[in-house]
Amino acid sequence: MKIALASDHAGFELKEKVKAFLEKEGYKLFDFGCFSSDSVDYPLYGVKVARAVLSQEADRGILICGTGLGMSMVANRFPGIRAALCHEPFSARMSRLHNDANILVLGGRIIGDVLAFEVVKVFLETPFEGGRHARRVEQIDALTKEA
Ligand code: RB5
Repeated sequence: MKIALASDHAGFELKEKVKAFLEKEGYKLFDFGCFSSDSVDYPLYGVKVARAVLSQEADRGILICGTGLGMSMVANRFPGIRAALCHEPFSARMSRLHNDANILVLGGRIIGDVLAFEVVKVFLETPFEGGRHARRVEQIDALTKEA
């Protein structure tokens, strides 16, 4: 599975740790930055991961900013992206089972690295349940055509 990853400065430290964790787990990664703790604007990085997922260059995305809020707002502007801000494994699991989330968002100033690794693992390993949930996900996509 190919994973697109990006953060702003507030998520940089956690991104590096998540990256090392995923490399060890054998995932193929595309790191879209940022590459230091120097201040940057999160929309410029969120957009890269959203596009990589939409173009199918990556199967899933992971975005990290300070709270996860800004990155969620950016990613969810893109029709076809379902970005889920999750800070514990239950939400991460449900975001896959019921919402077919394709981007996981984390807040680097909120979650510790060990819990983040568990959330990431659950997010990447849980399949979409389909069935009635597929109908609901289609309804989300239909809304973006209406707007
Ligand atoms: C950066 O200071 C911070 O605003 C950003 O990382 C993020 O939390 C925005 O939602």
